[in-house]
Amino acid sequence: MSKPAYVQGTATDAPPVRVTIDDLRTHCAGVLDACGLPSEASHLVADSLVDAEARGISSHGVTRTRIYGERLRAGMINAAAEPHVVSTRTAALQVDADNAIGHVGALAGLDAATERAVETGIAAAGVHNSNHCGTLAYFTRRAAERGLVTMAMSTAPTTMVYFGGRSRAVGTNPISMSVPRPGHPPITVDMATSATARGKIILANQLGQSIPEGWAVDDAGRPTTDSAAALLGSVLPVGGAKGSGLAMMVELLCGALIADVTGDGIGDMYEDWTRPQRVSHLFIALDPDAWVGRDTFARHIDGFAERVHGLPPAEGFDGVLLPGEVEDRKLDAARTDGVQLSATVAADLDAMAELADYDGRLVVA
Ligand SMILES: NC(=O)c1ccc[n+]([C@@H]2O[C@H](COP(=O)([O-])OP(=O)(O)OC[C@H]3O[C@@H](n4cnc5c(N)ncnc54)[C@H](O)[C@@H]3O)[C@@H](O)[C@H]2O)c1
Repeated sequence: MSKPAYVQGTATDAPPVRVTIDDLRTHCAGVLDACGLPSEASHLVADSLVDAEARGISSHGVTRTRIYGERLRAGMINAAAEPHVVSTRTAALQVDADNAIGHVGALAGLDAATERAVETGIAAAGVHNSNHCGTLAYFTRRAAERGLVTMAMSTAPTTMVYFGGRSRAVGTNPISMSVPRPGHPPITVDMATSATARGKIILANQLGQSIPEGWAVDDAGRPTTDSAAALLGSVLPVGGAKGSGLAMMVELLCGALIADVTGDGIGDMYEDWTRPQRVSHLFIALDPDAWVGRDTFARHIDGFAERVHGLPPAEGFDGVLLPGEVEDRKLDAARTDGVQLSATVAADLDAMAELADYDGRLVVA
């Protein structure tokens, strides 16, 4: 099976390396800067990538520096974009991302929704003309830290089958929700509507690994555990018809409603170098002060979290966790011990620095 064109780096048996969060952020920001992204945007993207890496979501971690850098260099992303609100109807806002790197487009939408929600109680901001924005939780957590309940969804290129189908028909369209919990990280669900984020298959392929059953089918629609065959085929929806239905709804709410762009109208970041991606995002922010009030809500959430933590665990589990907690714990550990990177990903970060004429090299702890 030939390697899909977007698989970078060569799998190596060399041992993993450890890098501090700060050094990793500096490196990724430096590379993106050298690819033409203004400093503020480079730092935002690098912060999101390193946050994902440190939380154990390596599929959306620093390995993405290369594809973002290459799309910037190829002019597929507008490095100088200035996302702006193009229409407002009380609490319904529309942002044109100006083909910005997705993180910049998404942040403009999140800011528009949260600023308005503080006045109106609830606000929704759609963002069109955007690109891949990494993990959605990076944005919903940010708004929850400002005291707001936040939901986000995004379209993604067509790489998943619908339940009952055998070829690509819909994106892995992610959904995230965060609830503020003062004094603690927000409670956050963040998930692709596919059995797994496709980035995990890309990463497995980059590392020369197979994938679990139930993640994907090959290009003939047959179940596969071969990561290369899976990349040429399609991802499966999470939970069968339910994930398939959720993915369709994201495509309709976020793609059709916000941007008039669905299906093949959304460009593949890795496979399509002829046009911008035209990804869209939707952010909905709710101010608890419009309902029970921030203090009452915070008290309730604290009691609620305590009850969940007090539940008896099933066999093989140490306890019942809140969504997002696994990742919060990994982030805490990474703050002290640094982030572990595979030798393949570390080498690719240096290769990308060289390609972009960035002088810095990854500082291995
Ligand atoms: N921008 C895009 O186009 C795009 C597309 C798809 C996915 N993504 C991103 O990919 C990332 C990974 O998605 P995924 O579906 O593979 O996520 P995942 O399967 O790793 O996690 C899904 C959810 O399960 C929770 N969880 C995991 N273990 C748990 C436990 N023991 N107890 C309680 N909760 C637990 C996690 O906190 C998370 O909220 C997400 O950040 C998503 O936003 C982005």
